Amino acid sequence: MSKKTYQVPRGTKDILPEDQVYFDYLLDTFETVVSSAGYKRVTTPVFEDTGLFVRSVGKGTDIVDKEMYTFNDKSNNSLTLRPEGTAPIVRAYLENGMQSWPQPVKLYYFMPMYRYERPQAGRYREHWQFGFESIGDKDPIADVTVISTAVRIFKNLGLPNVSVQLNSIGDSVCRPKYIKVLKDYYKDKLNKVCPDCKRRYEVNPLRLLDCKEKQCQPIIEEAPQFINYLCKDCHDHFKEVLELLDEINVSYDLNPRLVRGFDYYTRTVFEFWAGREGFAVGGGGRYDRLVELLGGKATPALGFAAGADRIVNELKNNPELEIKPSKKIDVYVAQLGNEARKSCLKLLSGLWDTGIAAEGCLDRGSISEQLSTSNRLKAKYTLIIGQKEAYDETVIIKEMASGNQEIYPQDQTMKEIKKRLQ
Ligand code: HAM
Repeated sequence: MSKKTYQVPRGTKDILPEDQVYFDYLLDTFETVVSSAGYKRVTTPVFEDTGLFVRSVGKGTDIVDKEMYTFNDKSNNSLTLRPEGTAPIVRAYLENGMQSWPQPVKLYYFMPMYRYERPQAGRYREHWQFGFESIGDKDPIADVTVISTAVRIFKNLGLPNVSVQLNSIGDSVCRPKYIKVLKDYYKDKLNKVCPDCKRRYEVNPLRLLDCKEKQCQPIIEEAPQFINYLCKDCHDHFKEVLELLDEINVSYDLNPRLVRGFDYYTRTVFEFWAGREGFAVGGGGRYDRLVELLGGKATPALGFAAGADRIVNELKNNPELEIKPSKKIDVYVAQLGNEARKSCLKLLSGLWDTGIAAEGCLDRGSISEQLSTSNRLKAKYTLIIGQKEAYDETVIIKEMASGNQEIYPQDQTMKEIKKRLQ
């Protein structure tokens, strides 16, 4: 009978130790920045009630219409693997009574997301996002702090050339008016647009603006721009955001085509592009109606999330960046013979108890095989316990760089190693 082998599902990947180092670096850098800005970490379940995403992200969006991993559990509840983090965070904010905490409530997360997208470079069906949300913040200063915090994260990661794309998509006062203007503009051009845009025209007209099809580009170029149709409140809010960004020297590109793919956004929206146009390593914006839409009292809010997998790919392509490898092995313990195995186990446990990075061979390889493993791991010291040493209750400490060897009583080995590693 042939043995069946298995592969990861399409669009997913294993994160192997050599890549995990980059993810750890990313999380570390991100946490340092956001925790100094007062954000606290939360983690929500991998799956949620399907209705949460349908209601917040919205029918007619690609995520809800095409990309959700939705299934019924054994009690016939419709559940969906989390495609994004904002709606679950707002659900958690409401469910855990955070409306009565001092506002704004500032939360951050590092969680995997699931979208049934066509896999390609930088686009996966399981991807990791780190993000932060500030709930209960209305002032344009909040928009500017969120944007500049994201800029700081990219700078600290060693990706200073990420551009900020910025737009305002208004609110429930001006958006319906703008959509009417946009639809009027498209009406007599529908025979020239791609099939997807014909659908967008009906279900989600704002998304006409970020179509990537060549035939739609000249039409988008000439399309009316939302910033010229903002109501007074949205206009004033956006103007102040821009002025404050100038004030703190954060540069940005005004991008009238930026609309984002979620219904919950209002007013300021932004994306962070690395290198290639449209290659977003992060995105976010205001969602002033979402808390209310999910059953809370009207609460303005905004946030940002970045794609960890895409950023790791960028970091790996940056030869100037030096990422510290995960903890290196300092000590390797080699042994030969039954008694020595027991001493080796005791020594290893002692080393681990004191937090020294150590590995050892409890198997039955030859000493020379074990020494070459120690070399491969780049251990600074190898502790050797052969049959004679086990009998004498001693240990040979071999310094790998010089090859020098010295014999110590077993009960003094830990002290000596600690001293040498200091
Ligand atoms: P988003 O733009 O859909 O926003 O996702 C955030 C980032 O996740 C993207 O900029 C991209 O880097 C990464 N990303 C998205 N989809 C994939 C994929 N299939 N494969 C790899 N990376 C991907 C949100 O999800 C919003 N919740 C952000 C937000 C937070 N808005 C307000 N607060």
